[in-house]
Amino acid sequence: MAYELIELDRDGRVATLRLNRPKALNALNAEMMSEVARALAELEADDGIGCVILTGSDKAFAAGADIKEMVDDNYLDIYKTDRFEQNHCSIERFRKPIIAAVSGYALGGGCEIAMMCDFIIASNTAKFGQPEINLGVIPGIGGTQRLARAIGKAKAMDLCLTGRMMDAAEAEHSGLVARVVPVDDLMDTARGAANKIAGHSQPANMILKEVIDAGYELTLREGIRFERRMFQSLFATEDQKEGMNAFIEKRKPHFKHR
Ligand code: CAA
Repeated sequence: MAYELIELDRDGRVATLRLNRPKALNALNAEMMSEVARALAELEADDGIGCVILTGSDKAFAAGADIKEMVDDNYLDIYKTDRFEQNHCSIERFRKPIIAAVSGYALGGGCEIAMMCDFIIASNTAKFGQPEINLGVIPGIGGTQRLARAIGKAKAMDLCLTGRMMDAAEAEHSGLVARVVPVDDLMDTARGAANKIAGHSQPANMILKEVIDAGYELTLREGIRFERRMFQSLFATEDQKEGMNAFIEKRKPHFKHR
């Protein structure tokens, strides 16, 4: 089925999923997020895809959850539908590597879905924030938790309590984004990173992100034990033999499970 509010392009082993609701600055409504979830399910099942880029427009990655859609919700509406769980959180459940390429506004739910990705590459025009406090609410798709873990309590409190925006340079200094590049270079940089990732062993990529993510919920000792077990498990793959033999033979590896 075709998509109306997102664009999905495949180039080799990299898929780019572009949020495309420009008149609303890519505000995340139910229809768009159901398309995102559907596209991610399609990409998860596609062995030809090794990495995904989630992006928006130059002006807005996404300006947040759609305020107009939820303004009339009462407690029971929003509780019973658990509006954001199923579709928005498909990004955090996605098992292959996924990069957020952010230009312009990444506010509220927009910042939250960028943080659900494995890492963020930002253009110099990117602006991040959790301005929900201005609407009489608080972040509701993980913003308070992921932002505090990413940039520390002081800055997370500052951003969430004041509702101010943080520019790309501050976001990079704070550890929220991995790289900042000029706006015209954003997609080339994201594609370069995604192509490199997609060329690696897929099981190793998937296990790697699972292990790093698990570290947020485990003690150091448990996390290290999990890492060790997962490291050991990769010796059951042909890709481990190929990767190590290729190094010894001074050639490029040709991973079977890409
Ligand atoms: N929801 C719905 N519509 C939105 C929107 C949002 N989050 N953000 C922008 N829009 C719409 C505007 O209503 C406007 O539509 P109309 O032309 O029909 O009036 C259009 O997008 C353009 O927006 P602006 O005219 O406001 O553009 P601007 O350049 O003057 O300002 C902005 C840009 C600073 C990003 C401003 O639009 C803004 O503050 N947006 C809201 C940001 C926000 O509060 N996000 C948090 C949402 S709540 C949330 O995300 C909760 C959660 O965690 C689950």
